[in-house]
Order: sequence, then structure tokens, then C-alpha cells
Amino acid sequence: MKSEQIIGLEEKYIMQTYTRFPIVVDKGIGCYVFDKNGKKYLDFLGGIACNPAGHGNKEVANAIAKQAEKLLNISNLYYTEQQVILAEKLVKISGLGKCFFCNSGAEANETAFKLARKITGKTKIIAMEHAFHGRTFGALAATWKMKYKQPFEPLVPGFAHVPYNNIDAVYSAIDLNTAAVIAEPIQGEAGIIVPDKGYLAKLKKICEEQKILLIADEVQSSLRTGKFFAYQHENIKPDIVTLAKGIANGVPIGICIANKGLDFDKGNHASTFGGNSLACAAANATIDFILKKKLVENAEKIGNYFIKKLNELKEKKAIIKEVRGKGLMVAIELNKEVNPYVDKCLEKGLIVNNVTDTAMRFLPPLTIKEKEVDECIEILDEVL
Ligand SMILES: Cc1ncc(COP(=O)(O)O)c(C=O)c1O
Repeated sequence: MKSEQIIGLEEKYIMQTYTRFPIVVDKGIGCYVFDKNGKKYLDFLGGIACNPAGHGNKEVANAIAKQAEKLLNISNLYYTEQQVILAEKLVKISGLGKCFFCNSGAEANETAFKLARKITGKTKIIAMEHAFHGRTFGALAATWKMKYKQPFEPLVPGFAHVPYNNIDAVYSAIDLNTAAVIAEPIQGEAGIIVPDKGYLAKLKKICEEQKILLIADEVQSSLRTGKFFAYQHENIKPDIVTLAKGIANGVPIGICIANKGLDFDKGNHASTFGGNSLACAAANATIDFILKKKLVENAEKIGNYFIKKLNELKEKKAIIKEVRGKGLMVAIELNKEVNPYVDKCLEKGLIVNNVTDTAMRFLPPLTIKEKEVDECIEILDEVL
């Protein structure tokens, strides 16, 4: 099909909830994608952090193909191998206790909220202002933006919001009915907001003192900040961690990992597709590839290079107000509306996005090298 035809069919047959860029993406290789007309783009958004091992990754593709021929999904009425391999891997890396598998970030957070209420027997969840946790009713209640929530009220009750990066505010919000605090180690959808060093450790300490649970939403921040989990920068263990996005390099998966001793009872929670063999095989191959190629370390090294280059660009361009981020979770804040600049980048073959009205976000595959960073900076230099 031609691009125009695809765009027309989308409007006719697909619910119009997305504002899409006007290209039809056809295939990807490494950190590049190609549209239907064969135009090449440098992908510095990586499917919004969903392609850490790069597009068209052969090792992940082979694992998926092999598993697809063997077994896709047999439900959780039976034991399957890829699921336990993945669970053991994640428990060892995280230092936590047990996993529950589902299919998206929102579902992973729903699982975390249910588990927190079940374990503590309390209902209140403290979330952060400007947080994003997903679009299902519970995750939406934990999300900050009114625009996302208001048309669907009433949402799940029991959620309160406090300013991010403010320990006193959390302390004041805790009451006798508080089950948990949920925080992103770095806020993603808010525009890549990095809290003060020690923030998460202080959150953990308060939670411990007050006997409530700390949920770290690592859906966006895992893999790309220089540690496998961003919370590991602070030498703490949250009680519950949620994952999704890049863990299976683009195959849908959601995971809730809870610390030792935190578990559901039989029948408390379930997901038909959760932990299916295909998604788990994809995740196993993705994680193996990331560890083998030291991509977590690369994210830190190349991320530092990228941030340095962006700061150099900021010296030249008054339009750049701030460069923020850690590793390959990065944004620049402009002193103008960012949309026209994002569009111009696309025209020039660079994929980025407008995470807020004024911030441009970068979440590239972790396989990028200095050469690709230079290419990105060159385009940004022209566009800005
Ligand atoms: C921190 C965070 N949590 C949860 C979600 C929701 O994930 P999903 O879209 O897979 O439901 C997102 C998605 O952007 C996210 O960034």
C-alpha cells in the first residue's frame, strides 16, 4: 500500500486517539528506520523507549521466530520454561523476590496497586505531581494530568498527589490508611525530570519508617540511565518495581516485581497473555543481548557524550533553555513551542518527540555510537 492510502485507512478504521507524524514507518535497522517511500530516519525516540537493542535485532528476532514455532501461549494454567527463566533473571538483577507478568506498563502498575492494598490492608496510594503511570482506571488515578483523567471520572478512589522531589510533602501526605508511595526514579512523560540525588533513598527511608510500600515505576527509566534499574543508582531496593516498554525490545510485556515476602494469594490476580512464551522469549533474548553487549554501560557512556554535546549546542543556541537527563533518557527544554522544531527534525530525517509543549525528548536505542550522536547534533544544530 502507498503511504497516502494507509493514512486514509487509519482515519477511517482506527479510533482517532493518536496525533501521528505524517510518515508511514515500514522497517528498522539498528537505530535507523525507513518510511514507505524509502526515506531513512535516525531514530532518537526508539518507539518511546521500546527498542533498547535496536530495530531488527537478529538475536531477538531469531529467539522470537524459534519460540513462535514451538509455543506461543498456553495460558497460566500450566508451567512454561521461558517465563521462569525470565523471572529468575529479573529477580537476580533487581535483588527483589518474585515477578508477576502482564502486558503493559499500565497493567504492571495496576498489579502493583492491587498488591500494595492486599499486603497492607490499606487503600491510599501517594503519587507524584506530573507523574505518568498509564491509562487504565487505577493507573490513570495515579497519573497527574487532568486532561487525561477528567473525561473518564470517576476514577479509582484513594490516590493523592504531592510535589515530586519533595520528601516533606510525602511525609505530610502519609496517614493511617496509606498503603504505598509510587514514584518514577526519573519522570519521563513530565519531560525527563531528574530528582535530586538521594531523593529515592529518602523516599525508601520514610516508607520503611512509616511501614508503607515504595513502588518504583521503572517502565521508562529501566535499562537506559547507566544501571539496569534507575533505583540502583541509590543503593536501595524498592518494595515493588514495575517494568514494560523496552524489556522485550518492542514485544508487549509488563512486569511487576515485588520484594521477598510480598506475594498475592492464589486467584488474587491473573492475565491471560501475561508471561506468554513469545513475550518472555523476546524479553530473555533482549536482556541477554543488553548484558552481553554491555548496553547499560553504553547508555551511560554515550549518554554522557550526548549530554555534553547538547550542552555545547546550548552555548550556541539561545533557544535551548536547559539540557536534562541521565544516560540515554534525555530532553532539551526550549524557550519556545517545540512542535515546529520536532516537525523540522523529522523532515531532516531525525525522529524525536515533543514530550511537553516546550521539551524535546530523546530515548534512542542503547546501541547508538558517537557517530549517531554527532549526526543527531548536526541536525539539531541546523533545525534550532
Ligand atoms: C513511567 C511510565 N509508567 C507507565 C507507563 C504506561 O505504559 P503503557 O503505555 O505500556 O501502559 C508509561 C508509558 O509511557 C510510563 O512512561
